Amino acid sequence: MADPWQNAYDVAVDVARAAGAVIRKAGECEIKVCTKSSTVDLVTKTDERVEKIIIGALKEEFGDGSHCFIGEESVAKGEACILTDKPTWIIDPVDGTTNFVHGFPFVAVSIAFAVNKELEFGVIYSCLEDKMYKARRGKGAFCDDEPISVSDVKDINKSIIISEHGTDRSPEKVKKIFSTMQKILCIPVHGLRGSGTAATNMCLVACGAVEAFFEIGIHCWDIAAGAVIVREAGGLLLDVDGGPFDLMSRRMVSANNDTIAKRIIQEIEIFPAERDDAVPQKK
Ligand code: IPD
Repeated sequence: MADPWQNAYDVAVDVARAAGAVIRKAGECEIKVCTKSSTVDLVTKTDERVEKIIIGALKEEFGDGSHCFIGEESVAKGEACILTDKPTWIIDPVDGTTNFVHGFPFVAVSIAFAVNKELEFGVIYSCLEDKMYKARRGKGAFCDDEPISVSDVKDINKSIIISEHGTDRSPEKVKKIFSTMQKILCIPVHGLRGSGTAATNMCLVACGAVEAFFEIGIHCWDIAAGAVIVREAGGLLLDVDGGPFDLMSRRMVSANNDTIAKRIIQEIEIFPAERDDAVPQKK
């Protein structure tokens, strides 16, 4: 049988690369910043423009009504964020908006595609580094067309772990985030890191530069593409309570193996985050 999604995958790679070029160019000009859910949840005209470019380009190929689109900025403007069985594109036009605003050199375009609620492929273009990460279900993960795989470290004492602070500054949540980080640091691990983009963090797990990335408060568009890339690179995803990964739950651990994932999970102090598919969506 002909491969039904190869064309979609190829289009996603081209669209991500073109979007990244727009972001690079926009970074050379003055960036006007607005805020969304909090004063540290930033958005720029570039986020909105790039999302329009991506969805517009995808609709030229797949705009017959049979495909759905979940985009970070469209959801911020009130569109639904519900994953159905229909072929669905899940898009973060600028992952690492805060980095983009500050000139911190990790910014990614993240495009994922799901069918029957199963992620078929993910494409992450780390556009300032000019690195193209991609993976299709069952077909391996690649960076710039070279196969990538997770690290084989099983000893948590020899690991580097990534986490982020997210965009919620309520003192009780910040306290839990730092308490978790302190406990993990003191296991001890070799180091804690954070690139400022969930998509890039997952690529770092996938290519073996770090052993795990976890966060509570991320959104489906931050991690959908990365989920395929990590799995295809030989890693795994779990919920922060050790249960199955749920794309819409806003929490996840991605790791090179089960041993590392479960050791981290022992230390995570869980706090509530409203699901992406909670109705109504107001962000
Ligand atoms: C953010 C980044 C960041 C993560 C936040 C995300 P955005 O995405 O991925 O690393 O900590 O939770 O919201 O807003 O830059 O697309």
